[in-house]
Amino acid sequence: MIIRSINLETVCGVTSKLPENDKPEIAFAGKSNVGKSSLINGLMNRKSYARISAKPGKTQTINFYNINEQMYLVDLPGYGYAKVSASEKEKWGKMIERYLHQSKQLKAVFLLIDIRHAPGNNDKIMYHWILEQGYKPIIIATKLDKIKRSQIQKQLKILREGLEVLPGTEIIPYSSVTKQGREEIWNKIETEFLT
Ligand code: GTP
Ligand code: MG
Repeated sequence: MIIRSINLETVCGVTSKLPENDKPEIAFAGKSNVGKSSLINGLMNRKSYARISAKPGKTQTINFYNINEQMYLVDLPGYGYAKVSASEKEKWGKMIERYLHQSKQLKAVFLLIDIRHAPGNNDKIMYHWILEQGYKPIIIATKLDKIKRSQIQKQLKILREGLEVLPGTEIIPYSSVTKQGREEIWNKIETEFLT
């Protein structure tokens, strides 16, 4: 994808009305701090257009990035952030659920999981929820630069088994430091979801 223009077009909080976009949307879900906003920056060739933070819980809204007036990359708040009250968590959860359920233009949900860790309960719930909603889940194993090359296959196996993925489920390793995996992700978006 050649990036000609990017624009943070819509920011939705808990009480906001969701936009009725007329172009395809690709959403990124995952635990807080897993690297969703960093991945979106990487895809857009920007360092910090999407706000990122070393502290979890940075993205608290649903952010729609218009790419080339052609499609949207959708940054979702992370789940499982311990420092947020239970009621706050529930509100975000509902907001994410509402979006995934209501959007007419959502074409795919990428689920991000840190390659260093076994998937948690929330990751499993999200994975199966994506499936139930009829989307083909694509998993991105983030922070690839944090492990040794020799560890990759072992970690991917832990990920596959932990999520109990369906046979043939794709997992794309990605690093926002080296940008390894970027082309593969764009390729997938362009060939499978924008045509
Ligand atoms: P929330 O908005 O809180 O849900 O988090 P997020 O999933 O958007 O994570 P974010 O992109 O803000 O990144 C969290 C932290 O992880 C930041 O300090 C990033 O610099 C770091 N990070 C993200 N991706 C990578 C990666 O591929 N490699 C390394 N080494 N660090 C990463
Ligand atoms: Mg974020």
